[in-house]
Amino acid sequence: MCGICAYKTKENAVKLAVESLKILEYRGYDSCGISLFKNGKIETIKSLVDIEDLRKKTESISSHLAIGHTRWATHGGVTLKNAHPHLSSSNKIALVHNGIIENYKTLKENLNCAFQSETDSEVLVNLIEKEGGSLIEKVISASKKVEGTFAIAVIENDELVVGKRESPLYVAFCESGVVATSDISAFVGNVKEFYILNDDEFACLNENKIEFFNKNGEKIKKNAEILPKITQNFKIFDKTHMESEIKETKIVLKNTLKEYLNSDILTNLNLPKKIKEIDLIACGTAYHSALMGAEFFKEQGINSHAYVASEFRYGKEILSKNTLYIFVSQSGETADTIACAKLLKEKKMHLLALTNTPNCVLNRVCDNVLPTFAGKEFAVASTKAYCCQVFVLYLFSLFLAQNLQDNIEELIKFTNDFQVQDFDRALLDKIYHYKKIFFVGREKDYITALEASLKLKEISYINSIAISAGELKHGTLALVDESTLIIAISTEENVREKLFSNLEEIRARGGEVILVSNFKSGGFTKVSLSSMCENLMPIVSIIPLQFFALRMCEKLGYNPDKPKNLAKSVTVE
Ligand code: F6R
Repeated sequence: MCGICAYKTKENAVKLAVESLKILEYRGYDSCGISLFKNGKIETIKSLVDIEDLRKKTESISSHLAIGHTRWATHGGVTLKNAHPHLSSSNKIALVHNGIIENYKTLKENLNCAFQSETDSEVLVNLIEKEGGSLIEKVISASKKVEGTFAIAVIENDELVVGKRESPLYVAFCESGVVATSDISAFVGNVKEFYILNDDEFACLNENKIEFFNKNGEKIKKNAEILPKITQNFKIFDKTHMESEIKETKIVLKNTLKEYLNSDILTNLNLPKKIKEIDLIACGTAYHSALMGAEFFKEQGINSHAYVASEFRYGKEILSKNTLYIFVSQSGETADTIACAKLLKEKKMHLLALTNTPNCVLNRVCDNVLPTFAGKEFAVASTKAYCCQVFVLYLFSLFLAQNLQDNIEELIKFTNDFQVQDFDRALLDKIYHYKKIFFVGREKDYITALEASLKLKEISYINSIAISAGELKHGTLALVDESTLIIAISTEENVREKLFSNLEEIRARGGEVILVSNFKSGGFTKVSLSSMCENLMPIVSIIPLQFFALRMCEKLGYNPDKPKNLAKSVTVE
């Protein structure tokens, strides 16, 4: 949800900022822009097209100071005026902002100046201008009047100040100066160590000096962290990030297993002595892996539930010290998931983060971390990270039940034999015209149906639902006719016959059925899966369905890496 960057360097900061924005583009791609300081004034260049367009527009411009932004629109439509950076009404201060200023309307009323955009961020830059003192003093005192979240970079003359509350922000020395970005993978210019800004911390960045301040304006000391190697990606390059990332699933599962078997990650966890229940909390795709995790824990005899973070946050769940709370998140930045973790931390519950991003906010909130080693995921639609989450949750369930040792061989065999399977193109040609697609399954296959349906919706914009096969006849069967495509997932032996009866009921009403299964076809058109470890079949079955969403999206002429209305990191509530 918006990415920001800032450079103050001896070399051309504009070029470095464009490089960072290219990496940050996954956080929002509604518009982008850069402000730079040159010849005693601020110059601003924006684009509604993409970072490549911004690169062309800035090619001939050079400056030692630049701030950049890539936007996911919250306040105000996708227009050049609403694109960041925003300038104060005197044009002397420029600001980029990731977050939401909740009280912007009240602040705006009191500011008494002319506004160019509909954004909350323009209110913030004008608020900063109205404060007194040096730029850092103005930023800190303005932040006290602000309700909401922010990661900001602000320039005035030759000065660069950054600060944050809730939204992520990291600063570092690079080869030729200093840099701040929303994501450590977006550091360019040979960064080796970096600093994490905590909430209501600020920094003044100079080419060879970084000064940190707390919310009272007092100088504070911070320790640098080593930049982890996870920022490097794996080596499959296809025409879209999504295709590369699905294809990387085999490598990253192998990698994840190797890391778990060759390290003390599991034995070093500080877990409650007696775990009576495991509750998993997450959003979107990560919620689906949480649902899968709950099934794994129950199979090992541990009571377990999965919750959507935005519901749990305001719900009335009864908390317990004998419960382990697991927060599942690829980015470790998702606002609702983090809010739940903070809430439970205050109540001194046992927390564990399952994330794919080292040093992320969620890892810092939780006592324990289970990493997935999926490498950076750029595509908005989560694919390889989902498979790694499911895999690690299975591994962890075996560990808790003291069954891991007995299953190591099977896990190794699984990662060796696992193959990434594309969706049959000839079959796709026959079914891509459907505009109403249901995914059905039972037990874990129902969870796969939920995830397959979400993937299809988010990148191909086809109206799709997932429903537990047994529930169809309690209402939804009324929608089934010749215009309905039903994709049924069947990898659970114990409910196989039941599912087939449900499919016959669909066929009798004219619906077209495609079966995704490692069992016999029963006369239905089938996408054949290899039979592997039954508990890990959800990883086998989701791959052709991720490809189904991707191929549908391509057939319909959309870009899978930039689905409309979405962004990779959801840092707002
Ligand atoms: C869908 C997708 C989203 C995310 C959700 C949570 O493909 O990626 O539904 O799963 O926004 O994000 P994380 O896992 O970063 O907390």
